[in-house]
Amino acid sequence: MPDEAFLPYGRHTIEADDIGAVVDVLSGEYLTTGPAVEALEAAFCEATGAPHSVACSSGAAGLHLSYLALGLGRGDKVVVPSVTFLATASMAHLAGAEVIFADVDPDTALMTEDTFEAAIWRAGGNVAAVVPVHMCGQMVDMDAIGLIAQNSGIRIVEDACHALGGRDAKDCPTGQGSTSDLTMFSLHPVKTVAGGEGGVVTTADPDLAARMRTLRNHGMMRDRFLDATQATAADGAENPWYYELAEPAFNYRLSDIHAALATSQMSKLERFVVRRAELRARYEGLFAERASVFNGRVRLAPSTAKGRTSWHLCVALFEFEVIGKDRAYVMRALRELGIGTQVHYLPLHRQPWWRQRNGNTYLPGADSWYARCLSLPLFPGMRDEDVDRVVDAITALVRF
Ligand SMILES: Cc1ncc(COP(=O)(O)O)c(C=O)c1O
Repeated sequence: MPDEAFLPYGRHTIEADDIGAVVDVLSGEYLTTGPAVEALEAAFCEATGAPHSVACSSGAAGLHLSYLALGLGRGDKVVVPSVTFLATASMAHLAGAEVIFADVDPDTALMTEDTFEAAIWRAGGNVAAVVPVHMCGQMVDMDAIGLIAQNSGIRIVEDACHALGGRDAKDCPTGQGSTSDLTMFSLHPVKTVAGGEGGVVTTADPDLAARMRTLRNHGMMRDRFLDATQATAADGAENPWYYELAEPAFNYRLSDIHAALATSQMSKLERFVVRRAELRARYEGLFAERASVFNGRVRLAPSTAKGRTSWHLCVALFEFEVIGKDRAYVMRALRELGIGTQVHYLPLHRQPWWRQRNGNTYLPGADSWYARCLSLPLFPGMRDEDVDRVVDAITALVRF
């Protein structure tokens, strides 16, 4: 990549063998519901240590399937951290549940024991599930959240879109399922592995996995029948065409084309995670070197240093008021220098749609994170010099 090439905040890394894997599917027999989907599910079981995984058409679909598989609906409340992507909360709403926003730590954007408990208290009862989001790839303290959830009969769905390839403080891979009911990953191109689109949910619970498989395929059952008369012929043999509707549901299937790309990418997961960690370490080194120049006006969102972080995002926290330049100015100035940045995220409790529904919620941690956060370029295809270029550009902006 030449010096002047534009650096987006995130980008997929597609190599010749990834392209080959897709071409093989295109010239094969199955474009959907074929062996490539099964291979992807097996790759996720292997990478996470989870006994079951269910591939689907997007991370959002994975969240919807998770909430529906748990039976969440009318009368249930679901605690979602305010700093996350729209889908974490939208899908709970679409499942029929009420969303209660939790605050986050202002420096890491992670839901904590305290902010979870505060949200339960604010909900005033009927909290059926919580959705910890491993922001930037850093793991929420799942032991602490798990203990509270267990004591209160609350189910757990991890939104691990940012955390594929990570490990918790006890060295268990994200998605293993020891502290949660379900863990959802996205295969969107900026994520650790790309499928174009796609999602995978892992779980230790075979019944939840089976229910999600039915729900992702129109609610169609081919293995269990309620109506034996229709299901079987006069001689008692199963009618080969027969299927039954378990309940009206969705087409959330993943195509074999997407699955083949994602499976090929999964073979590189370790390399991608290691490279992301190297780039993050280079950012850390340069920020430490320039600490006296930055003088607290900009710093990296701190590492919790628990387990192994699969750095999906590298967020810097800017004191824009002290610097005397607002975020839009800084983003535009960096863009002019060929550096893309992004904001993760506009907290959901500030979204007009949610404000209209839930009223104003006071979540100072989420507001403080939002006031300062800016995601810097981080993806495996970056060179070390690209990190230097980003930090040099920030230095020039912050200094003058
Ligand atoms: C935290 C989080 N949750 C949910 C999603 C939704 O995933 P998808 O875009 O694959 O539907 C994303 C991805 O954008 C995400 O980053």
